[in-house]
Amino acid sequence: MSPPASIFLAEETLDPSYLPGRLVHREQELGVLERRFRASLAKGLAYHSLVTGGVGSGKTALVRRLAADLERAGRLGNLPVRSAYVNCWRRASDRTVMLDLLRSVHVSLPDRGYSLSEMIDVFEQGLRRSPQHLIVLLDEASALVRQETKLVYLLSRSHEVELGSISLVLVAVEDLLPYLDPASRSSFGVTHRLALPPYDRAALTDILEDRARLALRAGSYDRDVLDQIARIAAPNGDARFALEILAGAAHTAEEAGADAVSSEHVRRAKGSLLPTMTEDHLEALSTNQLSVLLALSRSLKRKGASVPSQKLRASHSALVEELGAPVMSRTTFWRTLKELERDGLVTLDAAGSGESSQVGMDDLPASLLTTLLEERTEGGRPRKR
Ligand SMILES: Nc1ncnc2c1ncn2[C@@H]1O[C@H](COP(=O)(O)OP(=O)(O)O)[C@@H](O)[C@H]1O
Ligand SMILES: [Mg+2]
Repeated sequence: MSPPASIFLAEETLDPSYLPGRLVHREQELGVLERRFRASLAKGLAYHSLVTGGVGSGKTALVRRLAADLERAGRLGNLPVRSAYVNCWRRASDRTVMLDLLRSVHVSLPDRGYSLSEMIDVFEQGLRRSPQHLIVLLDEASALVRQETKLVYLLSRSHEVELGSISLVLVAVEDLLPYLDPASRSSFGVTHRLALPPYDRAALTDILEDRARLALRAGSYDRDVLDQIARIAAPNGDARFALEILAGAAHTAEEAGADAVSSEHVRRAKGSLLPTMTEDHLEALSTNQLSVLLALSRSLKRKGASVPSQKLRASHSALVEELGAPVMSRTTFWRTLKELERDGLVTLDAAGSGESSQVGMDDLPASLLTTLLEERTEGGRPRKR
């Protein structure tokens, strides 16, 4: 027998630093930004923009895509477009950010002895040597701006650079306007602000699918598995978390020698990224809840990402019979499912009316859950098959 083909085609495209060629579900935002920048730069004027959104909402990808697309599109107002990207997370002072910007125009200054405005002068001289529109991307700019930055003010005023312009793009999770001085605030009026809404489950599935197509071998994943991952990441709309789970699940599948990513691999990857259900948590569950979870984990181990509630009830009846416990009434079963949903341990997707729902569970690998729950019901003499 030949070994299974690798799950991965181009693993590096799952890396957080990989910039995808297109951004599904952000085409509109990207289009708006591109039009605004083009219109302004073509007239020789700088354009400033503030982009906000939650973690994993695609802020960094969006502004880097914008800059790359504008650079590639060629001259505007007869000048080329260039960009400089600085992540300010660990460089939360004007001077350290400025040193990075100087490097981007190939000027190096000693770390000491220059005031901020002198540094900006040198920076502009660097730009004058090669006339261009420069787009300065300041990512994760919150800490910088909160400590009364002068850099934002100085950079957003420096459009009088001879033969060129400096545009400023600020990126942050929160709105930065309250922290800016009034003059800078006026550079970021309504048409200079863009707030990215969180991705919903369908958008996350599309993003995952787009990336899976690049990163993984065709046939090694299916839409159900991607949807399962999207469901896990949807409460925060976080594409980064979704892609981390996809990468983790693909690795788990590869290491297991499987030829495709299964929902069990997803649960295992998710469990190792964010173990939300602990043994303590399991201790606190009622016997009813435990037996429903055990039935669910067994069904999922056989069947994938979710099972219809009717089917689950049938496997649950078989399980309690096996354990020698009394059969649970339909109402008790349904109420127990609802409790588990409320505690965030299972998900219920209403497919139609009433009790015909799809039941899913992502928190723990079914195999581990089965072991834990069988230990717990040991007193009930489980007959292992
Ligand atoms: N619309 C999208 N299409 C494709 N990939 C995306 C999209 N939005 C985000 N991503 C990917 O999700 C991950 C997180 O996005 P990122 O831009 O870093 O989020 P943020 O900066 O808002 O925290 C990155 O790997 C990015 O490439
Ligand atoms: Mg980011």
